[in-house]
Amino acid sequence: MKILVTGGAGFIGSHLVERLLRENHHVCVVDNFDSFYDPHRKRRNLAAVNNHPRFRLYEADILDPAGLRGIFTEAAPERVIHLAARANARMALKEPALYSRVLGEGTINMLEMARDFDVEQFIFGSSSSVYGLNAKVPFSEDDPISTTISPYAAGKRAAELYCHVYAHTYGLPVTCLRFFNVHGPRQRPDLAIYTFVRLLLQNEPIPFYGDGTSGRDYTYVDDIVAGVVAALHNVFPYMVINLGGNHPVLLRDMIATIEDVLGITAERIMLPPQPGDVPRTFADIRRAEQLLGFAPQMTFREGVACFVEWYTREVLSA
Ligand SMILES: NC(=O)c1ccc[n+]([C@@H]2O[C@H](COP(=O)([O-])OP(=O)(O)OC[C@H]3O[C@@H](n4cnc5c(N)ncnc54)[C@H](O)[C@@H]3O)[C@@H](O)[C@H]2O)c1
Repeated sequence: MKILVTGGAGFIGSHLVERLLRENHHVCVVDNFDSFYDPHRKRRNLAAVNNHPRFRLYEADILDPAGLRGIFTEAAPERVIHLAARANARMALKEPALYSRVLGEGTINMLEMARDFDVEQFIFGSSSSVYGLNAKVPFSEDDPISTTISPYAAGKRAAELYCHVYAHTYGLPVTCLRFFNVHGPRQRPDLAIYTFVRLLLQNEPIPFYGDGTSGRDYTYVDDIVAGVVAALHNVFPYMVINLGGNHPVLLRDMIATIEDVLGITAERIMLPPQPGDVPRTFADIRRAEQLLGFAPQMTFREGVACFVEWYTREVLSA
């Protein structure tokens, strides 16, 4: 298949691109290497695939429809996997209009291209954050989405609804995959595991938000990628599917696991819960199991160990 991946230089996107190339697909990436974190890091993410004969990189912005039109004309993708986004719930509170543009208008631009160029399937990388303060656990796809608490989550939910518009109105098959707390090598530096590992290795204290009982359903990046690839092989008119680990880890246990993997005990700075942070995420993955054969493989501890191995090799020694 000819597959266009937006945000393909990022954490999840670059793992996905490698997997798609291994499966003999033709892959083109649209990424603007934005400065949310070090663009050199994103270039390194693509180092292994840059010279692959079935790989093509377009350094372009999803907010530039004319540029996108040229890319779609040249690359003629059969499928689109849309991952490009500003991704960080806390930062979104500082720049809500920017997040709204990239998540909303950016997604509309991609949907317009998919419609104009008769793309066979559009996969959207959504987020568990849309569940917001949902009190019922685990979170299932049919739960009402009415308690989002960050502009990031609101933007993701808006993008899901735009996806529904294009599926319903133009018959564009769309699958929205709600990723839950992805971790593993190449993780974004703003995410908690990266931050804690960095601080611990620098012998600095770590911020400890709330009472340590907030929970996150950490999901290893290869498991997420397996779910995305399975979605390519199961096309629906419109479907929302959770991709999560189904085993939430409490903040205090997450830190204890990192301490154990590193063999270092952290000094904690006690802080109140952060605005925009949800108290818990916990995926009901029965739909993913039934429709995609989704079965997460990696334990949390193994995933943290893989991250630490990558961090030591790629970041500390760079
Ligand atoms: N990492 C997680 O835990 C997680 C959880 C839920 C959902 N998601 C979603 O998955 C997707 C990938 O997340 P990630 O963690 O890999 O983030 P990332 O920041 O590493 O990757 C996003 C990529 O999108 C690119 N990008 C940003 N704005 C762009 C624009 N205007 N035009 C073109 N490219 C642009 C960035 O340069 C980056 O390479 C995002 O949509 C994110 O919201 C991530």
